[in-house]
Amino acid sequence: MARASSYILVLMVVAMAVRAERNSNNTGRVYWSSAEDEAQAQTRTQPRDDDTEVADLDADGGFSSLEGMLQWAIGHSDPVQLKEKARDVERLSPADLNDRRLEIKQLMDELKTPSDAQLMQIAIDDLSNSSLSLEDRHRALEELLVLVEPIDNANDLDKLGGIAAVIGELNHGDADTRKLAAWVLGTASQNNPVVQKQVLEHGALPKLVKMVKSSFVEEATKALFAVSALIRNNVAGQELFYVEDGHLVLQDIMSEASIDIRLRRKAVFLLGDLAECQLENTDKDELPFFSNRVFLKSVVDLTSSADLDLQEKALVALKNLLQLRTTEALVFKNFCGLDGALERLRQRLQGLMVQEDHRDYAVDVESIRSEVQQIFNRKLEKVATRLVVFGVIC
Ligand SMILES: *[C@@H]1O[C@H](CO)[C@@H](O)[C@H](O)[C@H]1NC(C)=O
Ligand SMILES: *[C@@H]1O[C@H](CO)[C@@H](O)[C@H](O)[C@H]1NC(C)=O
Repeated sequence: MARASSYILVLMVVAMAVRAERNSNNTGRVYWSSAEDEAQAQTRTQPRDDDTEVADLDADGGFSSLEGMLQWAIGHSDPVQLKEKARDVERLSPADLNDRRLEIKQLMDELKTPSDAQLMQIAIDDLSNSSLSLEDRHRALEELLVLVEPIDNANDLDKLGGIAAVIGELNHGDADTRKLAAWVLGTASQNNPVVQKQVLEHGALPKLVKMVKSSFVEEATKALFAVSALIRNNVAGQELFYVEDGHLVLQDIMSEASIDIRLRRKAVFLLGDLAECQLENTDKDELPFFSNRVFLKSVVDLTSSADLDLQEKALVALKNLLQLRTTEALVFKNFCGLDGALERLRQRLQGLMVQEDHRDYAVDVESIRSEVQQIFNRKLEKVATRLVVFGVIC
């Protein structure tokens, strides 16, 4: 229902903008649709009167997305005039308000707003048009980004040829296009096993893992977002991720302090997630990578980062890693210096707790920290017990 009400809001803005437009002799572009329609429209930009205005909107089949409508409405309205209109609305009598309502309803009918599936199809068709301008290509992907958010639309994407079309864009020469394509795939796959499977079957993962290494940080960030969305709670996806050496890519990101902080946060978050999945699937052999000491040290080192969010995510990852059978307590202690790291973090958090604006967050992080400490201590005790038993036997 939230969607319906935002729809009405958009239509009201459109209605106001159309009225503003009708009252002026502005001859700018007045619709938002597929590139083909747009090209035709260039020939239709003669001055028009009140009646042809809406007729054009109608003939054109409306806007190709709500966002498009809104952008158009904003682009074509004068803020001063809009403000006046808003004041006018306040002064309207019930009868006038009713008229206005009818007017909006009429406008809604005239716009013949297409279905989401139709809108997706327009965007997908645009992508397959090799002579499409870069700007229109970006716009088509941005529209898909909004459209695939509802799960029903995401589930329709493959049927419409959308997954293949968007994956094709991952190879585009323009980095912004690649970034948007990765973003669309991630958004459609998030918490959606059906789409995860489809995207994996279309073979997008190897390319996305490569894109995570891009020097264009926006591309790398969205690619990592897509990779995470594809392999979260998805064992088949994770197996493929390891085959592509995705774990080594994560390790590089975590151990390189100069890398963009958003990318580092995403990497350590994904790692925590992968370790958790490994913990839950006790029947599966633990991957050797999880017990690699250099790798574990890079996670421990993140707890001394200046970024609180990164610290917290590193703690969550450590909490899971410590519980794996194959990670060794003594490696955490001697090679990674986990004891000292946890103690330094404790002191820093104590310091933050006395600051009003950081207190709540510091309390939360401290509770994870002390949990990590306890798990670590138990793991150490087990080793000590084993050593004693060993000593007795020998
Ligand atoms: C059209 O707009 C221009 C300036 O924006 C104004 O000078 C002119 O009088 C207007 N014409 C009509 C017919 O309203
Ligand atoms: C492809 O895009 C170009 C440029 O926007 C446009 O002129 C042409 O009509 C489009 N073709 C199709 C089949 O949509």
